[in-house]
Amino acid sequence: MEDNQVLDRFEEMRELVNANLESIVEEQSAVFGEVAIVSGQIVLAGGKRIRPILVMLAYQLAGGDDLEEVIPLALSSEFIHSASLIHDDINDDSSTRRGQEAIHVKVGQAKAIIAGDWLFSQGFGLGARYDEEVVEVMAHYCSILASAEFSQIDHVLDLSTSPEDYLEIVRGKTAGPFAAGCKGAALVANASAENCEYLFEFGMELGIAFQLVDDLLDIRGDERMGKPRGSDIYEGKMTLPIIHALTILHGPQRVRLSEIIRNFEDSLFDELISLLNFGGSLNYSEILIRNHLERALSYLDHFEDCETKQLLKHVVKMVEKRHS
Ligand code: IPE
Ligand code: IPE
Ligand code: MG
Ligand code: MG
Ligand code: MG
Repeated sequence: MEDNQVLDRFEEMRELVNANLESIVEEQSAVFGEVAIVSGQIVLAGGKRIRPILVMLAYQLAGGDDLEEVIPLALSSEFIHSASLIHDDINDDSSTRRGQEAIHVKVGQAKAIIAGDWLFSQGFGLGARYDEEVVEVMAHYCSILASAEFSQIDHVLDLSTSPEDYLEIVRGKTAGPFAAGCKGAALVANASAENCEYLFEFGMELGIAFQLVDDLLDIRGDERMGKPRGSDIYEGKMTLPIIHALTILHGPQRVRLSEIIRNFEDSLFDELISLLNFGGSLNYSEILIRNHLERALSYLDHFEDCETKQLLKHVVKMVEKRHS
């Protein structure tokens, strides 16, 4: 497949996801009223749809030949993701999401919490129609997501947070759901246990890189993100560049860095970035991102070359180059 055909095919998959999400939101809004309308707005506000697309591609790579069969699982992953975003924005005190006002800003925190719960219910309703093994893997990694979010809160402004603590949180809050979606899809396709594990590990490595990129974008900022810059630093989140710089810098520079992260404001961005660059910390994150993406690609080597594999490689590239 030529590059532009890969892009077209990818766009088609995104449109398929969007069309399905739209019709579910419309249908459910007629039944549940305001909670569905409000929750639906965040689902339909955009979003890259990387998780449902991964589910569909993992299914096809694993040998599945009836895409319809895996679509509810794909949609389930997007509903669960959107639910977690609503709760995440409350926890992170973030006021914009997908280029819109965050839902807790629009309707208040109490309703936003319920809207998130409603989306989780939708996600589990769609996912629960599969075999027990599939439901178990999805439920398990959703539970780990919650546990990682707890642990992240305990590490706020904890300057002794290690890279291992950070990676554990990232595996739990972001990469686990990627991995579970890929493995769940492979199970639906009746893949061998080995291929299910390869796809699980592929999702895990890709998901780690995805969050590392997200954390870099939070520091560097990009207008295309549709969410505020610096949210992690304002919240005292110990992301990898910060953890790395705290280890590398010494004396007055380390003291200054800890002052900056404790009392952050927009005017300190340039100083923060120059300290991070001095420590080589942004560069370190970039190297780690490439390592995880390389590992993700190595799991694809276990599968024969085909169009689906090309599309998955395209997703890997997108994760590396993303600005939103
Ligand atoms: C945001 O996910 C939350 C993270 C795990 C970093 P996405 O960057 O996939 O957000 P959308 O779905 O495209 O809005
Ligand atoms: C990922 O972390 C959030 C979830 C897994 C729900 P972030 O808090 O960094 O996500 P963004 O940057 O707000 O999208
Ligand atoms: Mg968060
Ligand atoms: Mg957040
Ligand atoms: Mg982020």
